[in-house]
Amino acid sequence: MRFHYLVAVFLIAISACEMQSTPEDVRLEGASAVDDAVLESATPDGDWLTYGGNYAEDRYSTLEQITKGNVDQLGLVWSYDFELRGGVEATPLVAGGVMYTSGPWSVVHAIDVRTGERIWRHDPGVPRIRGRLACCDVVNRGVAMYEGKIFVGTIDGRLVALDADTGEPVWEALTVNQDEPYSITGAPRVVQGLVVIGNGGAEYGVRGYVSAYDARSGELVWRTYTVPGNPADGFESEALEMAAETWSGEWWIAGGGGTAWDAFAYDPTLDLLYIGTGNGSPWSRNLRSPGGGDNLFLASILAVRPATGEYVWHFQTTPGDHWDYTAVQPITVGSIEFDGQMRRVVMQAPKNGFFYVLDAETGEFLSGQPYITLNWAEGLDLETGRPVEAVEAVHGFDWTMITPAALGGHNWQPQSFNHKTGLMYIPIQEGWVERSEIEGWEYTELNIEDHSYGPAVNNLGHMSRARSYDGQEAPGYLVAWDPKAQEARWSVQLAGYWNGGTMTTSTGLVFQGGGDGRFVAYDADTGEQLWETATNIGILGGPITYTVDGQQYVSVAAGWGGARGRTRAPYGEANKYEQKGRVFTFALNGTAPMPLPRTKRPFFAPDLDLPTDEASLVQGGELFSGYCANCHGAQGASEGAMPNLHRATAVVHRNFENIVLEGTREVEGMPSYEGLLNSDQVRLIHAYIVANARNSVTSPEGEPE
Ligand code: HEC
Repeated sequence: MRFHYLVAVFLIAISACEMQSTPEDVRLEGASAVDDAVLESATPDGDWLTYGGNYAEDRYSTLEQITKGNVDQLGLVWSYDFELRGGVEATPLVAGGVMYTSGPWSVVHAIDVRTGERIWRHDPGVPRIRGRLACCDVVNRGVAMYEGKIFVGTIDGRLVALDADTGEPVWEALTVNQDEPYSITGAPRVVQGLVVIGNGGAEYGVRGYVSAYDARSGELVWRTYTVPGNPADGFESEALEMAAETWSGEWWIAGGGGTAWDAFAYDPTLDLLYIGTGNGSPWSRNLRSPGGGDNLFLASILAVRPATGEYVWHFQTTPGDHWDYTAVQPITVGSIEFDGQMRRVVMQAPKNGFFYVLDAETGEFLSGQPYITLNWAEGLDLETGRPVEAVEAVHGFDWTMITPAALGGHNWQPQSFNHKTGLMYIPIQEGWVERSEIEGWEYTELNIEDHSYGPAVNNLGHMSRARSYDGQEAPGYLVAWDPKAQEARWSVQLAGYWNGGTMTTSTGLVFQGGGDGRFVAYDADTGEQLWETATNIGILGGPITYTVDGQQYVSVAAGWGGARGRTRAPYGEANKYEQKGRVFTFALNGTAPMPLPRTKRPFFAPDLDLPTDEASLVQGGELFSGYCANCHGAQGASEGAMPNLHRATAVVHRNFENIVLEGTREVEGMPSYEGLLNSDQVRLIHAYIVANARNSVTSPEGEPE
């Protein structure tokens, strides 16, 4: 009860919307004009109206001012500071000269494209303690727009509709049971006046589903589960009854998983909404469904009717998923010639390492080939597309090397499909991991009421230990994939493993940001680099292009973090700097200077009257691992989006207890542990951090760990 009271006070404290004067010339006729017809015709007047650029989610622009010949004259016009720590995975939207984007903690920003000035900012007031349930950082992939409203899904599972002019909330719907470890990081999509939203949480134990709300009223219109529940409760549909045949044991206790946390695409001609579904909960199939089975609809593309959510077809990429091989990766609809016939297809490069081309109307498997090294399967059955598992990859209790690793050969980072080159531009990565099952594993229900669980309670049923790649971090690439021939046309190795999404143009360009903060334009035909600029902030999200007052712009929302970057360092030059996200906007002959982020502070360990005995440090370490490490990293030494506590200043150390127990940095993202920890416990945690900071200060390389 106490917790709810705190939440309520907190909501009032931070949900206030900060308004700035709205100049007359940016009145938002753009957003208010966005309806079904506008969305169907895609990017009219050079706006960017929906997450993937259009319903097909191809992120292909036909704007022609920026070309191979002049792209080297691109310069910064403005940048906009999100002012919060945490990864930025958003693709911004633009309508009528106004940009709408989300940043960390599901905060929504409206920015005047002509000046880069804030028009409004809305913080939906997610209790920061809820960030512990976000497996992969407090990110948000963006907003949706319809009839003058902006829609955002929040980390604590709400769908909020904002007035596009003012940022004031119009309606709000609770899309999850907040007593369960659900979260929302994905962008909503609007189809036929319905706002479609999924959720995540399969690492902790939930049952996945997709909901659709009336965009005008906020009323729930349909909800479609992606995995069956307990048969004793009855099935919600025939499709789920059929799916239940492919499960065994008491799978519903740990939720089953299958969460739809990212990909949607829509084909108006076929009237089909495509949904990407996630991994099993727990990961281990032996523990999840002990009698075997494919476990539908895990790791699948599901096609449903957008008006009702009714099942039409499914294609499962990884039957009986055992490796966290989600199929929530971006889905692109297109047309490709097969055997002399144009076929309407859906294309996806899911985590499992195969690129799939399926018939968009029926889900029929047309072709599939590995887009990256993989060892869990020997190949795909040419008729059905079903993988032929490599026997040695189906591990039990023995440590077994698997590739791709849990972050997949490709993750949520957007792909783009160029209708002129016929190529799909995909940010991909290699990754190797050793896995084994946990003997005697049992599902642990998380106590969300008092947040007393530790991050170790992730309900995977697996242990993992990372393996390096030839002694180095596994590499990431930008690959130009030919979906027709099912082979790579070119690829470029990037500075590191975790990088940004792509956008491509009819003038033959591909834009991509890197985990090293470089924003780059490539020749779409050859992969030759034509332009780059260093933002010094790791880039993950998808770039966009649009016109305002007849001028073409390119924007990208930068912000290192996410599954890989929450506690791990960005690459190259970017690692010299603190990583707080920004939107960068470029145009030909832009002349704004690139802002330099704050340089990382040196390691520092103050002399304080804190316990130094072994027993206290062990206790402090256990508390730290349980309550703090999923954000601040092992020993507090995060070099990613979250602050490294070994670099904390004397002022921070003086205020340590206030920061942790009184929530003095709550709005900035540091949860309050009032009522969860007491002063003595905080003192032990503090002692543990200072002892580890001392090791960092004195380590020869000056590197923590
Ligand atoms: C949900 C993620 C999250 C968790 C969990 C978390 N923190 Fe934080 N913490 C943050 C963020 C974000 C900041 C930065 C706030 C800011 O920018 O001022 C922060 C800042 C801090 C700071 C100030 C650091 C500085 O140099 O300014 C301290 C100290 C701190 N946290 C300690 C802790 C301790 C101790 C715990 C566990 C009891 C903990 N945090 C748990 C997210 C988290």
